[in-house]
Amino acid sequence: MSQQQIPVLFSEQEIAQRIATLSIEIAKDLPREFLIVSLLRGSFMFTSDLIRAMHRIGLAPQIDFMTLASYHAGTSSTGQVTIQRDITEDVSNKMVLIVDDILETGRTLHYAQNLLRERGARDLRIAVLLEKPGKRLSDVKADFVGFTVPDKFVVGYGLDYANHYRELPYIGALDIH
Ligand code: IMP
Ligand code: MG
Repeated sequence: MSQQQIPVLFSEQEIAQRIATLSIEIAKDLPREFLIVSLLRGSFMFTSDLIRAMHRIGLAPQIDFMTLASYHAGTSSTGQVTIQRDITEDVSNKMVLIVDDILETGRTLHYAQNLLRERGARDLRIAVLLEKPGKRLSDVKADFVGFTVPDKFVVGYGLDYANHYRELPYIGALDIH
């Protein structure tokens, strides 16, 4: 499918505006300094825009990255999550904001949240760019949500289909479900 055919769900401008507002929502809840744990690869673009929006309103986060993989048997997830690349920062006694691209079943974020809690994070919040309602299999809630999306497979702005479309500056819907 050529990129021109992917219908736009959220444009570049809509994303930028929402992220500016989201950073204000985060600033009301979090201290000036905290640690962001950004979950790769899907959240790299969101994280880079979010931290610049945070800077503009006076926040000063530290950043680290973690790559998690959840294994799928056919089309259904087995629910097993493993660490492919870990953070190098010590989270003990830190205020941590986990940043991810999309909250679907919640397994990835549930795993990340438990892991960082076990390592002694003082306080944890979760920010996601997108949330798909009605798909949750794990008990996890995002504190900050950019947009709620319909039950479609979405790509662009960091999100992929077989590692394609991450470079799109907008969020689009693939017509595969
Ligand atoms: P969860 O553990 O089911 O919540 O899975 C979340 C992960 O699945 C996200 O971090 C994405 O990498 C991926 N994912 C879920 N839905 C979509 C989608 O619509 N487009 C692209 N990736 C998705
Ligand atoms: Mg992901």
